[in-house]
Parts: sequence; C-alpha cells; structure tokens
Amino acid sequence: MSNYHIKNLEEYYQIYRKSVRDPENFWSEIAEEHFTWRKKWDRVLEWDFKKPEVKWFAGGKLNITENCIDRHLLTKGDKTAILWEPNSPDEPAVKISYKELHERVGRFANVLREQGIAKGDRVCIYLPMIPELAIAVLACARIGAIHSVVFAGFSSTALATRINDSDCKMVITADGGFRGAKTIGLKAIVDEGLTQCDGVEKVLVVKRTGEDVHMHKGRDLWLQPLLDEAYSRCDPEVMDAEDPLFILYTSGSTGKPKGMMHTCGGYMVYSAYTFKNIFQYKDDDVYWCTADIGWITGHSYIVYGPLANGATTLMFEGVPSHPDYGRFWEIVEKHKVNQFYTAPTAIRALAKEKLDYVDRYDLSSLKVLGTVGEPINEEAWHWYNDNVGNNKCPITDTWWQTETGGIMIAPIPYATPTIPTYATLPLPGVQPALMDEKGEEINGNLVSGRLCIKFPWPGMARTIWGDHERYRTTYFSGFENMYFTGDGALRDAVGYYRITGRVDDVVIVSGHNLGTAPIEDAINEHPAVAESAIVGFPHPVKGNALYGFVILKEVGESRDRTNLSKEINQQITEHIGPIAKLDKVQFVPGLPKTRSGKIMRRILRKIASGDDSSLGDISTLLNPEVVEAIKEGVIKT
Ligand code: WT7
Repeated sequence: MSNYHIKNLEEYYQIYRKSVRDPENFWSEIAEEHFTWRKKWDRVLEWDFKKPEVKWFAGGKLNITENCIDRHLLTKGDKTAILWEPNSPDEPAVKISYKELHERVGRFANVLREQGIAKGDRVCIYLPMIPELAIAVLACARIGAIHSVVFAGFSSTALATRINDSDCKMVITADGGFRGAKTIGLKAIVDEGLTQCDGVEKVLVVKRTGEDVHMHKGRDLWLQPLLDEAYSRCDPEVMDAEDPLFILYTSGSTGKPKGMMHTCGGYMVYSAYTFKNIFQYKDDDVYWCTADIGWITGHSYIVYGPLANGATTLMFEGVPSHPDYGRFWEIVEKHKVNQFYTAPTAIRALAKEKLDYVDRYDLSSLKVLGTVGEPINEEAWHWYNDNVGNNKCPITDTWWQTETGGIMIAPIPYATPTIPTYATLPLPGVQPALMDEKGEEINGNLVSGRLCIKFPWPGMARTIWGDHERYRTTYFSGFENMYFTGDGALRDAVGYYRITGRVDDVVIVSGHNLGTAPIEDAINEHPAVAESAIVGFPHPVKGNALYGFVILKEVGESRDRTNLSKEINQQITEHIGPIAKLDKVQFVPGLPKTRSGKIMRRILRKIASGDDSSLGDISTLLNPEVVEAIKEGVIKT
C-alpha cells in the first residue's frame, strides 16, 4: 500500500523525499491503488515546459464520476454524500446519500444527452449553491461534457463573455437564487446575457425561488419535468485521462478572462489525494467548505476531492451574516462539522462582530480548520484559532490557485507544526523554487523571491481554452523551465514558505482574483472617462479593496464627482459584477507612466495605501509631475 494518509512530520519528510526522487512512481502508486480505471495508462508522465505540454496517465481510461460515486455504492451506499444546508435556517437541511446521488446524477446526465449534449460539448452552469449545482457538474462529467461553471454573482456581460469564449451549447440556470435576505433573478440575467450569444441552443431551468420568469420558446426548458421522465441509470462515458474535464475562468492582468482547462485523470488523483491529507478526513467525519462551487475551491474541495474519498461534504446556500453573524457556527453545531474550510476575508468579517455569536454554539466537533484565498493576517489567524478552534484545532493555511487544481503548499494537520501566516511546506510531489529577477534560482533558507514550481504535478491546468500561446507566455516564459505562479514568497530558516502576495497586476479582493484589466475596461467604457488604473489597497475585511485612479476626458469636467463615481461603479457591476466595485475613486490629471507607456502601478499602490514616503526614483517617468498632483488628491478614509 502506498502511504495515502500522512500521520506525522517524519512520515511527511519521508514521503516528500520519495515523491521528489521518483515522482512518476510516487503518483502511479497512488493512482493505481486508490482509484478505478477502465484501462491502465501507457505512460505515467510526459512533459516539456518549453512547449509547454504536460500529460499524466496518458492512455489511461476512466470516468471521474465512477470514482466519485459508483465505487462507493457497495460499501457506503446509504452514507450521506452531500449534506445541503439552505439559505434560511427555517428550511430543513437535505441529505443526499451516495445511492441517491448516483440516481440523480444518472437522471440529469440522461437529460443532457436527450437534449443533444455529447462528449466534448461545453455546458455553462450558472446556478446558486443548491444540490442541482453539484449534480449538474457531475452529470456533465458523467457523459464527458466539459462544464464551465460561472459564479452566480457575475453579471450578464461577464457571463456572456465566458459562454462565447468556450462556445457553450447549453446553459443550466435557475429562476433565481436566495442569498441572505435577497433574491437574485438569475434567469433574467441569463436572458440578458444570451442576447449576445448565438451558440446556445438550450437553457435548462431549475425552479428555486418560484419567481416569474420568461421562458424563451424552443430554447428554455424547466428541468424537473425532464428529470421525472428520465431513466436513472446512465453508463459513464469512458474518458482518456487527458480528456478535458472542465474549464474554469480566472482573471489575468491583461485581456479577457482565462479559461483554465483541467483534465480528467490527473485532476482526480490530485484533488482526492490533497483532500484526504490536508483535511485528515476519516470515514465518519462531516466536512464543510464554505466556498462557492463557482470557484476552484468549490470544484476541488466541495465536489470532486471529497466525493472521490467517499466523504460527507456539506454545501451551504447562504451567507455568513444571515439571519445573523452566528450562522456558520450554528451550522457547525447542528451538523457536528469536523473539518471547516473558509477564507480569511470571512474570518475577518466575523471577527468584527460580538464574540457571543461564536460562543453561543458548541463547536467541539471541530478537528481541523482551513483557510484559502489570500495570505491570512496574524490577528485573524489568532481569532480563528482561539475562538473557533478553541486552541485545539490545527489551522491549515492552504496556498494554491485556479491553475494548480489543488492545494500546493500547506501544513498537514497534526503532522506539520504551524506558524501563523505561513503556508509552511509543499505537499508531496510539489517542487517549489524561489527565483530572483535575473531568472536565477535562489537556494538556501532565509531568502525571498518569485515563487515558481519546477516539476509538473497531476492537478495542473493543461492550457488556456483556445489560447495555448497565452498559457505559455503567462506561466512558462518568465523563468526557464518553470511554472511561474505570479506570487512572491519567502522561505524561513526551517524551509517554511510564507506567501507575500502577487508580484504582477492581479489584485486579490476577498480571496478572489480580480484582474485589473477587465475592471479598467469597464470603467473606460463610461463616456466621461479617458483612462483609468486600479490597484489594491489594504482593507481590514476584504484583505484588499480596489482604488481607482480615473482621468476624465474633459479637463475641468463640471459634473458631480460623487455621481460620476456611482456611475463608474454601476458600470463595473454591469460588466463584471458587484464584487469588483471600487471602494475609492480619485479623479486625476494623469497616470504615472514609463517611457514605453506602461502604467507604474507600483507607485499608485504606494499612494493608495497611504504610504507615499518612499516612492523610489520617479525621475525616469515620462511624466513625474503627475505624481505630486495625485498625492495631493489622495482619498484618505
Ligand atoms: C491566488 C490564486 C486557490 C483558491 C482560491 C483563489 C492567492 C490563495 C493563498 C494563501 C496566500 C493565497 C495567491 C494565489 N492565495 N491562497 N493561503 N496564502 N495567498 O484562487 O482566484 O486562482 O487565486 O490567491 O495570490 O496566486 P485564485
């Protein structure tokens, strides 16, 4: 038996060394012993970071849903697979056993086939956090359709861009969604978006809020009647390990969102292996990740990773503040949650409220706490440790990306001693490197640099959908023969990593990667705006908030600036969604630029953070005089 469950630090180091000495053997042992394959692979790994090309388990045949559902039926058929907690505490929770999940996924998959979806077709899923979302994802995977889940907080324009980029044939949505005290009219947003999408043939609609919707004849169908008519048995499509499983969009520093493409075999092995070890999942545990399935965290650690391990995964429809700030802890007590995985931004928001919201509940079931999305600050770490974990639950600070498919650097609970703000050690099979600006690797400890990965791991994205060249230039051109993460990191005396943040133009707000470019594009579409630049600045709850520097077309423009700021934010909401709204808008006469015309965001970041004491040498700028003007007009609170 390969060592699937790491139990202590010594064992970690042993396994880690083995994984680096012989990665192929390491991963093939895990893949062979813990998963069901219809046919074994021909080669464990083929790779060339120059092209770049990476293939894991090529020639191997499998279906990920057979691994996530069917193979648990004999031993765990009645075990709860998905435990769904609705938005309102007054609505009962729903338990879906592995047996029932098998039937519901089968029915849904048959509906997809009947509606013309076949292997390789792209299906866009735009749903709230209801069981149908997880089931739709699995139903696509069952028949080899490529799912592209779009977070149901994105606007119609953002949705349309994503649908068109991957030529989706179908959209699966709901009439509406509940979020705290609000409802969101999802079907109306889809209707609006689809005015810009010619390729969509069918829209399947789940009934959730019961609100009135317009059903477009010949295109839109209610899902339930179709499910009622469908057979529950659906033989899985046999997939090659390297066939695409899904596309998930993430923002970059320039251009349109990047459709990261993940494949069946490697992603399955990686998400499952990391889930088991990072959460130290045991058979009767109840595991809860608070992310939305619209993000990679939900793909890997609500759906695929937990189900591949036969776990009980809790899925929550609502928000942490509704009906009050005790909602998370009420759910932990009610379902006796053992592992709890959330984002630093949620912890900070809850830490601002009265402690009574936490103390009211019995959280003694908790064994492991996790965080993801951005660096966790020391204060939030301690609040989480003291008040939620009661000083007895290890906190695993997990560093990874949409591109990596699964967790890369994180402490293994009960094995790796933790230090607040440190993501600590790489998982087995992960080979990090710190690089200097000249492109040389920085060896030894007590150093910092740009974080790269030297060797492929099974969960890595294989390409950007439709744009392999962009995949190459974004991740493989900065440093020779390395995957470049875009993050900076330091390595301490014992080899622990601490992620220091992005070194490129991406801003992480509330744990979500918001590229600067699409937001600036949205601002620039306002008729009064000539040019704009946005940067992140430290924010007590969101980690970073967005600060926009905006140049107006007409100097001395006499319009009301407050209204203009509102209109700009409205513009952003329409193009991207409310999560990308600016906290501060400053109207400026110009933007600091290099002689080649590149905006010097470094300077803007300093000014926005309120620390303009050391802006460095600005004499090389094309227009050093604008810096003073910007400093004078900076918005303080
Ligand atoms: C970026 C990836 C991975 C799912 C959520 C975000 C930042 C993520 C951490 C962490 C410090 C972190 C990085 C990374 N990040 N986790 N534990 N410590 N930074 O996925 O939207 O693809 O964003 O989030 O900057 O590059 P994503």
